[in-house]
Amino acid sequence: MTETLTINTQPTTASRLGQLDPANIEFGKLFSDHMFAVDYVNGEWQEPQIVPYGDMAVSPANSALHYGQAIFEGMKAYRTAQGGVALFRPLDNLHRLNASAERMCMPTLPEELFMQGLTQLIRLDAGWVPAADGTALYIRPFMFATDGLLGVRPSDSYRFMIITCPVGAFYNKPLRVRFEEKYVRSAEGGAGYAKNAGNYGAAMYPTKLAQQQGYNQLIWTDASEHRYVEESGTMNALFVIDGRVVTPALSSSILDGITRRSVLQLAHDWGMPVEERKVSVHEIVQALEAGTLQEAFGVGTAATIAPIAVIGNEGRDYTLPEVDDSAFSRRASAALTAIRTGQAADAHAWMVQV
Ligand code: COI
Repeated sequence: MTETLTINTQPTTASRLGQLDPANIEFGKLFSDHMFAVDYVNGEWQEPQIVPYGDMAVSPANSALHYGQAIFEGMKAYRTAQGGVALFRPLDNLHRLNASAERMCMPTLPEELFMQGLTQLIRLDAGWVPAADGTALYIRPFMFATDGLLGVRPSDSYRFMIITCPVGAFYNKPLRVRFEEKYVRSAEGGAGYAKNAGNYGAAMYPTKLAQQQGYNQLIWTDASEHRYVEESGTMNALFVIDGRVVTPALSSSILDGITRRSVLQLAHDWGMPVEERKVSVHEIVQALEAGTLQEAFGVGTAATIAPIAVIGNEGRDYTLPEVDDSAFSRRASAALTAIRTGQAADAHAWMVQV
C-alpha cells in the first residue's frame, strides 16, 4: 500500500512490550504501545494522529455516554510464515463500520483514512503481533460522539480511534449454550445488524443469568416468538445437520459476521450444501434428538470458531457428539488459520500485508 496520508506520529518513549507474557494473554487487558485517533469537526475529518496509548479527556455530556452514540469493529492482524504481518479482510470491517455509522447517525470514514491509519499503526506496533499458534493482534476500531451537549440529537463532532491488543483464545473449551426464551438481543427493524455499543451492553444481563445457570453463552432467538435462532453471544451460529451447513439468514437483527461469511465461502469451495435461511429452535432440538445434528459452533473475530458442546432448551441439556479433525468446523478453522498465517494460498484475496 502506498503511504499517501501523512499521520502525525508521536512514538512512545516507554514501551510496555516487556509486560507481555505470550504464554498467558488475557483478552483485551494489555494494549499495544500506540493508538490512532482522528476527530470529526465542522463536517470534516481533521488531522489524524498516532500517539502513545493512554487515557484521554472527553466531555462528560457527550452523547456516547448518555445515549449510546458509539460503534465499534473487531478485526485481527496475524504474523505470517514469511515473517510479515497481515490483516484479514480489513475492507469488510470498514464497510460494516460505515453501515453501523449510518444506522447511528454518525459520519462514515473514508477508505484511505481507515486503511492508512490501520496499517501505519500496525507497522509501528508490529512487535506486539504475537506468533504462537492461536494468537493474533486484536484490533478495535471505534467511533463515538464528542459534543458536550445533553440534547437528544446526533452529535456534530465525533472521534474515531483504533486500539490494539495481543490475544489468544477467547473461549478455551467447547461451550455450553442455551436458547433464550425471555430476553431479546434485537428486534427486526432494530439495530442488531450494526455493531453499536448498546447491543452489547443490553446483552450482558440475560447472559449473566445464563452464566449463573452454568452456561457460557446464549443462543438468541427472534424477538416476536422466540422460535427462530438469531446468533450466539458475540458470534454467529452455524450448524451441520446431515452434512449440510445451516445458519440463520442475515436480517436487520443479525450481525453480518466476517468470519461467518468466510466460513460459508469455504463450505461453498468444498462443495458442501449451504443453507442460509430461518432456523427454528424446534428443528435444532429435533435434529439433536434424532442424532442428525453433527456440529454446532459459533463464529466471530474474537471467538474465531468456537465449538458448542451442550445446547440447553426449556430446562433440558442436549450434549452434542464429539468431533474429530474431519469435522467441518475443525477443517474450516485449520483452513482459515493457514490462510491468515500465510501457510496456504489466499484464493479469495482476503489478506492485506501491512
Ligand atoms: C469480535 O468478535 O471482534 C467482537 O466484536 C465481539 C466481542 C468481543 C464484543
